[in-house]
Amino acid sequence: MKVKLRVFRGREGEGHYQEFELDVDEGASVLDCLEHVRFRLDETLVYNRACHHGVCGACAMLINGKERLACITKVRDLGEEITVEPLKNFRVIKDLLVDPSPMFSKLKLVGARMLKASEGYKVLDECVECGACYSSCPTYSVFKGFLGPSAIHFFAKEPKEEGLKAEETGLDGLWTCLLCRRCVEVCPYDVDVPRDARELRKEYVRVVLRMGGRCR
Ligand code: SF4
Ligand code: SF4
Ligand code: FES
Repeated sequence: MKVKLRVFRGREGEGHYQEFELDVDEGASVLDCLEHVRFRLDETLVYNRACHHGVCGACAMLINGKERLACITKVRDLGEEITVEPLKNFRVIKDLLVDPSPMFSKLKLVGARMLKASEGYKVLDECVECGACYSSCPTYSVFKGFLGPSAIHFFAKEPKEEGLKAEETGLDGLWTCLLCRRCVEVCPYDVDVPRDARELRKEYVRVVLRMGGRCR
């Protein structure tokens, strides 16, 4: 099928859109289109990918304005005009490649506290750490101190000593989550961060009440 691919080219604060006319298979993914461009038309195009089947999280980007994984997004579901742009709320390194380190710092922060609290480490089994939720989150877009969606999920999921969890919950801006569900709408694995946030809030209140209404 014929596809007109419009791709963001450039760096943070400066860029333009480049158009490519492609003829791809019916079953092609958006990542296949990008590979086609890179290997046949313009080797300078920069983007991230690894697994090609939706498990590494590397290929998250804006596709027709919505955060998606390029490798599992089929061209036939999008129509003949496709615009690809880098994720929002991360620094653009070049073209479609962003710097995800702020998200990983949040995950590390939660993991470090988790290690301290539970003396154990569990790999997330749902979240592929793609960053789509951070890109879509209105709270994170204005408050970079916000723990952020996937870190909230990670934090809520891990067992740890109750008092410590409550203390961390208060410190990390959890109460600024709007429960708006934009992160759920874009998550490739339907991670329900608002549910996690509500559970953490309930736990926080329970612990504060048990402490006689005092919080730090
Ligand atoms: S919670 Fe979902 S959208 Fe967010 S990083 Fe994990 S997989 Fe991606
Ligand atoms: S529900 Fe909370 S974490 Fe998810 S997008 Fe909205 S404000 Fe962000
Ligand atoms: S390349 Fe791994 S999720 Fe797309």
